[in-house]
Amino acid sequence: MQHILSTQQFLNRKELVNIFKKAEKFEKADRQGKVPKLLRNKILSCVFYEPSTRTRFSFESAMLKLGGQVISTESAGHFSSAIKGETLEDSIRIISGYSDMIVLRHHEPGAAERAAKVSPVPIINAGDGDSEHPTQALLDFYTIQKELGRIDNFKIAVVGDLLYGRTIHSLIYLLSLSHNVEIFLVAPKELKLPNKYKTFLNSQKIKFSESDNLEDVLSKIDVLYMIRIQKERFSSARLYDRVKNSFVLNKKLLSKLNKRAVIMHPLPRVNEISNEVDKDKRAAYFRQAKNGLYIRMSLLNILCENLPPKMKI
Ligand code: CP
Repeated sequence: MQHILSTQQFLNRKELVNIFKKAEKFEKADRQGKVPKLLRNKILSCVFYEPSTRTRFSFESAMLKLGGQVISTESAGHFSSAIKGETLEDSIRIISGYSDMIVLRHHEPGAAERAAKVSPVPIINAGDGDSEHPTQALLDFYTIQKELGRIDNFKIAVVGDLLYGRTIHSLIYLLSLSHNVEIFLVAPKELKLPNKYKTFLNSQKIKFSESDNLEDVLSKIDVLYMIRIQKERFSSARLYDRVKNSFVLNKKLLSKLNKRAVIMHPLPRVNEISNEVDKDKRAAYFRQAKNGLYIRMSLLNILCENLPPKMKI
């Protein structure tokens, strides 16, 4: 694993188990205040052209807890030399000279892959436009394992903006690792999952169905995965206004959800999960965000294990 660009790289249960086991160990060590400083003398660059709370802070926290150091820019389009016209490739060539790994969030699909082509150090895709967000999907799958106690034999509804929802795109690939999984794709007709992901599900013989009715699926599922309708991806304000409140999980709908189901959301949320749901023990989204810290510690550790040793001066 030289770079982390897509969850298509992780379609191997053994590798996934290894990532999850390390994450568990880091969580335990963190609770005991005994995280080993495995990344001492390593520098992580966080280069974010799009806003972030969870991904950037959890990567930075993961690196610091492991004894490494962080250099970082948010709004890289404004606060780096991109504003002067520097290409992504040139920026990456330069930043890779100052750091051992680069976490990149960018508004263009394929940006992480472009960066990886010119980078001598690992590139971690922290979201490339509406394409993928692989580390989010890894922490989502880890959350399913922790909350359900299994990654096989479950039914999941993914609900919201499936057209632009990069966390779902990455999760779809990982779900192919589960045995006996069924997926309910719930989206407004304008925001249905792109065909390439449905072609993938068909190729893996994964059972799925599409609808625009959340209420209908609630009693059938073990995992409810809601995502935001992403205003920033719409070119038409009128279309956004029409679909923005398509799905709102409130107390009334919650009563129809299977008693042992898990409610997930990559966050941030806007209206799609009302605050009254937060107290329900099935609401796992804040635990899910915390899991991101440990999955990212695990990934940084694995990437660093693969780095060539530094030359002695
Ligand atoms: N889930 C997620 O990617 O959140 P941020 O945009 O806050 O990083």
